[in-house]
Amino acid sequence: MKYTRRRFLEVPAAAAGVLSVPAVLPAFAPSDTVRVAFIGVGNRGSHLLRNMLQVPGVSVVAVCDIVQERADAAAKAVADAGGNARVWTDFRKMLDEQKDIDAVVLATPDFTHRDFDIAVLETGKHLYAEKPLAVTPADCKMVVTAARQAKGIFQVGFQLRHDPNRNASERFIQSGGLGKVLMCHGIRHGGDLPRQIPWYFDRTKNGDIVVDQGIHILDLFTWAIGDHPLRALASGGTNLFIDDPPGRTVMDNYSLIFEYAGGVRVNFSHHYFDPPGFTGVQERVFGSNGAIELPKATWQPRGKREPVKLEVENADKNGDYMSLAAFVDNIRGNNRNPLNNAESAMRSTLQAILATKAIYEKRIVTWDEVAG
Ligand SMILES: NC(=O)c1ccc[n+]([C@@H]2O[C@H](COP(=O)([O-])OP(=O)(O)OC[C@H]3O[C@@H](n4cnc5c(N)ncnc54)[C@H](O)[C@@H]3O)[C@@H](O)[C@H]2O)c1
Repeated sequence: MKYTRRRFLEVPAAAAGVLSVPAVLPAFAPSDTVRVAFIGVGNRGSHLLRNMLQVPGVSVVAVCDIVQERADAAAKAVADAGGNARVWTDFRKMLDEQKDIDAVVLATPDFTHRDFDIAVLETGKHLYAEKPLAVTPADCKMVVTAARQAKGIFQVGFQLRHDPNRNASERFIQSGGLGKVLMCHGIRHGGDLPRQIPWYFDRTKNGDIVVDQGIHILDLFTWAIGDHPLRALASGGTNLFIDDPPGRTVMDNYSLIFEYAGGVRVNFSHHYFDPPGFTGVQERVFGSNGAIELPKATWQPRGKREPVKLEVENADKNGDYMSLAAFVDNIRGNNRNPLNNAESAMRSTLQAILATKAIYEKRIVTWDEVAG
């Protein structure tokens, strides 16, 4: 089966994790320009901006950052692409005063997500907000409640769901091609976090590295399995980058095992002391019919030696572009169940918080302890 972009936006509700939302916004005509504002144009926000400027039918009308030079640089990027964005340093003032904004892309630090997401959702504008949903279970629930009540569409920055290879792999799994999902095995081994972003090293600001980083792979595995885990067993700490940078409170390595209903397991190893190119990234799902490497969209049928490459739509596009393009399509089509929606984002964020609790408390922690 071929999956066009339109088709994967129409993911079955059960697979996407469903928001049931009664509110209906006036539909955009397919030709209408979607007017977007950016809040937070640091590392991630400026990257998303570059991608959004490539999406057809979008006008970036405002950019905001508390650091004036970043907001100015973002406005210049918009001008270089032929547009014109107003510059703001106070996003609440921007939302109050600039009336032509339809949608917001928010890429501020993790510890701001609860308050900033809710502030934008309350304006009725559509919101694409970076992951994680928030950094505590209570805060996640507050954002989900606000998203349920909001008039606007809410999409979360789990953009790997829109990466063409991973998307094709997940569709293949959900169509039954891999048979019954038995186990997921993930590796994310690389170098340390970028030093120029201090809050990355403060676990009170980002919930530590499972919540801030490993969450992307956990989101893909939870999507493949279609359920939340029942419990987590995990171990982690700081073995190489001790007090480096000074005051560091985030780990530099961990390993974890999740158990799901029916004996399905996730096994994930993440660390920052990989010599360049030594291990890298693996995202493998094992099923009764064979196994698949998600980022390669290549599966190995059981009992055969030849790998099979899946057909991949939009193979030349990156996940960030595809995720933002899907957001714009969702606005135009009034699709209130984005692939990366509030419910799926909460499940993945709670899963990361669950693993972190198991690491810190050195014990098996159950889903109900974080989600109950
Ligand atoms: N999806 C992904 O793959 C991915 C990758 C990297 C980062 N992220 C996420 O993106 C977010 C931003 O991360 P980053 O790496 O860009 O960090 P960053 O520190 O480089 O950028 C954050 C920006 O937000 C600005 N900011 C802070 N408070 C603000 C406020 N009140 N109003 C306006 N701007 C404000 C900061 O000045 C900064 O420019 C985080 O949530 C992070 O988890 C996601």
